[in-house]
Amino acid sequence: MEDLASIFGLNGKVALVTGAADGIGREIAKLFHLAGATVIGADINAAKLASLPDELPGAHIVTYDQGDPDSIANLFEQVDLVGPIDVLINCAAVYPFRKFEDVDSGFLDKMLAINLRGPFQCVQHAVGRMKVGGRGGSIVNISSVNSMRACIFDNVHYGVGKAGVNNLTVSIALEYAEHNIRVNSVLPGGVATTHAAAESDGYPLRGPFTQAGRIPLTGAAGKPEDIARACLFLSSDASRYITGQIIAVDGGFLIS
Ligand SMILES: NC(=O)c1ccc[n+]([C@@H]2O[C@H](COP(=O)([O-])OP(=O)(O)OC[C@H]3O[C@@H](n4cnc5c(N)ncnc54)[C@H](O)[C@@H]3O)[C@@H](O)[C@H]2O)c1
Repeated sequence: MEDLASIFGLNGKVALVTGAADGIGREIAKLFHLAGATVIGADINAAKLASLPDELPGAHIVTYDQGDPDSIANLFEQVDLVGPIDVLINCAAVYPFRKFEDVDSGFLDKMLAINLRGPFQCVQHAVGRMKVGGRGGSIVNISSVNSMRACIFDNVHYGVGKAGVNNLTVSIALEYAEHNIRVNSVLPGGVATTHAAAESDGYPLRGPFTQAGRIPLTGAAGKPEDIARACLFLSSDASRYITGQIIAVDGGFLIS
């Protein structure tokens, strides 16, 4: 008979978490470690990433730049040295705000390179490995509620990238279902991370986020753990019949 750990846990799994130095990605790395996975944390921020193995004994780290295709290819070569990848959490992203009419080509290219092309290429590398020998795997793309609605604080450049990530999710979920590779998107609502706080510091927030009661469950921003728990479910055997889903973890923000 199966026990809960084999259904909801990640024992024996190799899990790559991008953006693992900080915020939501770091929390995912911590929870996956607790769930028994061999975690590989990847990030551009080498200094913050360096402390991850102290916190999570046995975890591996790789410094890479998601805006650079060669760097992504090297990341997956490093992953191969640890073992065949079972889980990819595509979490690294940037979200600087800029007024729509001030978005020039250089800025837009950089945004989409990190937030859309990078996740796209990580998925390419992952599925190529997961289908070998029919092993299968689970991919969770961290998107955003901003992929599903008008972007409310001068971050259209961010929303269009995340909307692209959702299409990547459903398209690859369909194409690779026969290889038992599941692909889902998790859409955080507002989550209290250092980055999110810094980005909005001094910036005039507009629209529904500022209205009391727009987070029906708690009336407050989410915690990184809230996102990590959804990712654990989607990476574990508990969700083995779920693929191609776009799942908001937002305290009900999108339905309010
Ligand atoms: N915090 C929120 O409110 C919120 C809401 C919706 C979606 N999200 C999404 O959740 C994810 C995590 O966000 P967060 O708030 O934890 O942000 P964060 O800045 O705390 O973490 C993102 C991590 O990505 C890394 N990163 C940035 N550029 C990189 C690059 N070029 N190459 C490799 N790594 C790079 C950063 O160094 C950082 O460690 C992102 O995909 C973000 O879009 C966050």
